[in-house]
Amino acid sequence: MHVTLREVRDGDLPVFYAHANDPEGMRMAAFTAEDPSDRARFEAHWARIRQDPSVVVRTIAGEGGEIVGHAAVFGPTEEREVTYWIGREHGGRGAATAALRELLGVVPERPLRARAAADNGGSIRVLEKCGFVVTGIERGFANARGEEIDEVVLTLMH
Ligand SMILES: CC(C)(COP(=O)(O)OP(=O)(O)OC[C@H]1O[C@@H](n2cnc3c(N)ncnc32)[C@H](O)[C@@H]1OP(=O)(O)O)[C@@H](O)C(=O)NCCC(=O)NCCS
Repeated sequence: MHVTLREVRDGDLPVFYAHANDPEGMRMAAFTAEDPSDRARFEAHWARIRQDPSVVVRTIAGEGGEIVGHAAVFGPTEEREVTYWIGREHGGRGAATAALRELLGVVPERPLRARAAADNGGSIRVLEKCGFVVTGIERGFANARGEEIDEVVLTLMH
């Protein structure tokens, strides 16, 4: 699937909100916001990251301009991390892989980290296809699961 990354527009946010509240996406991501349905907190979060110069956040758009998801790099200089979310309606067609490849071209910083629930095989595969390697496993409380689960930490060195 061909995708492009562009600046986030106000009109993208309702789509991101729907993605963040998709039960299947929430289960996969596991480490979600405490209450993704809290619209005020969602809006505040997006307002904050869009004006934070240390956050590179982009809308992933499909060939017809449709909003496929979003991808971002965030965190302090020594611990920069990638994150992304693809709407389920666009899943399984290489969008995450293509978007992450493009993001890695835009953001030159290395190393970059990523985290995924240990059972999020699709996301781990996307990261490995883009050159990330597993460098650790941590335990953390996953809001979308209501319990502590294993989280894989991956690193892109070059
Ligand atoms: C996980 C997610 C990013 C995948 O997006 P996508 O666009 O479907 O991913 P792609 O199509 O680019 O690649 C998925 C790869 O994982 C593979 N895959 C899918 N499910 C898998 C599983 N359970 N175990 C192992 N590999 C799996 C696919 O076969 C594909 O690999 P391939 O190209 O070698 O065949 C997307 O489902 C998503 O955003 N989910 C909700 C939020 C989330 O989990 N974000 C990431 C948080 S770390």
